[in-house]
Amino acid sequence: MAESKATLSIDGNVVADLPILSGSAGNDVIDIRTLGNYGYFTYDPGFLATASCESAITYIDGGKGILQHRGYPIDSLAKQANYLEVCYILLNGDAPTSTQYDEFVDIITNHTMVHEKLAHFFQGFLPDAHPMAMLCGVVGAMSSFYHSDLDIEDPVQRMRSAHRLIAKMPTISAMAYKYSIGQPFVYPRNELSYAENFLHMMFSVPAEEYVVSPTVARAMDRIFTLHADHEQNASTSTVRLAGSSGANPYACIAAGVASLWGPAHGGANEACLKMLEQIGTLDRVDEFVARAKDKSDSFRLMGFGHRVYKNFDPRATVMRETCHEVLKELGIKDPLLDVAMALEKVALEDPYFIEKKLYPNVDFYSGIILKAIGIPTNMFTVVFAMSRTVGWISHWDEMLGQAGQKIGRPRQNYIGEIDREFIPLNKR
Ligand code: SDX
Repeated sequence: MAESKATLSIDGNVVADLPILSGSAGNDVIDIRTLGNYGYFTYDPGFLATASCESAITYIDGGKGILQHRGYPIDSLAKQANYLEVCYILLNGDAPTSTQYDEFVDIITNHTMVHEKLAHFFQGFLPDAHPMAMLCGVVGAMSSFYHSDLDIEDPVQRMRSAHRLIAKMPTISAMAYKYSIGQPFVYPRNELSYAENFLHMMFSVPAEEYVVSPTVARAMDRIFTLHADHEQNASTSTVRLAGSSGANPYACIAAGVASLWGPAHGGANEACLKMLEQIGTLDRVDEFVARAKDKSDSFRLMGFGHRVYKNFDPRATVMRETCHEVLKELGIKDPLLDVAMALEKVALEDPYFIEKKLYPNVDFYSGIILKAIGIPTNMFTVVFAMSRTVGWISHWDEMLGQAGQKIGRPRQNYIGEIDREFIPLNKR
């Protein structure tokens, strides 16, 4: 409900009174929906100061380094809940009772298998296809299995789509890995937890028993939780925009996978580990920090900086603790961690990074943990996409459940030619 207003005047003339809307936390927003009637658009490429929707799922305060899912702080969730509990919270709004949790786990567990025909899609990929390319293609292909009788206006059918996606993403992700290394696909096992099941599908082979390490499973589950949702980031906004036309939800999630793949977004964890490997030794850290500051050099410190966080990314803080725990429990001394710690120290003391408020983000430490638990580098963003699927589909569901939902259709500031005479080819 608008309580106050912003008055827009141009050259001293009042053009419009625009309502100011207040949420439950964060910046107030100026409702500019009527601005077009006055002959103006706003201009905000990259959406630096644009609220695209109303949402109750995730709250971020970039200045204070706050991240809450349905009001629950991320560090409490990462340390006291597990990923499926977080999925329930994101989808349904509140922490589940033990009965609700058990029912949810049962639903997800019993949807982990994929249609046998879906496995055939992998055969069309070249052996060296990037797992994210495979994930994008196969998730999109799921829209051919669940479409004709899908009514996305029905909240029950929307929730069923959400359950299927959360359940099947680990299976499809592990299949992408197995295909890339020429090993047979491994079926899910219902007696295993979500994280254990993923690790089992990734690393077990028919020739012998594979026992999942509890330490590794716990770390995997925490990584899933830390990547679950993050407000209106690029990939979530992609899913919302695709879904706003009424498109098939599986196709919308494939669009989210595509957007997340970029190195400026979810692809940063893979890029960050490659950067640490490129730096290689402590004595080269200063060289790369200098390159990151050099405007003539396109190099950026992957895993640093964030559009919203101008303070520590709270997920990076938990990820850093987890990184030390996992390496210690597994008895791994990874020189890349030493390089990462040195890079973090140098960057955080460097005036350039301090001035531009560039802190380690969620991708900075995740790559080191994923490497420690045996996930190959080209699967890092696949793990991110798996984890983020619940965030994407929660926002899709929230959007379709809101009254008056419209198709997303931004405008532009046109800078091209206008009113030109066209001369036919035979007269030019
Ligand atoms: C994720 O949106 C989300 O919530 C995303 C995410 C999620 O959970 O969904 O949190 C996940 O995508 C985390 C971000 C992962 N990306 C990286 O680690 C890649 C490296 N980071 C940068 O590409 C950059 O910081 C972004 C893309 C993350 C943010 O870019 P912005 O907000 O558009 O800021 P910018 O690019 O305009 O940079 C502002 C200034 C620039 O200098 P000036 O032009 O002002 O002189 O900071 C500099 C940039 O050159 N800068 C960096 C830098 N990041 C920004 N300089 C060196 N190294 C960097 N990493």
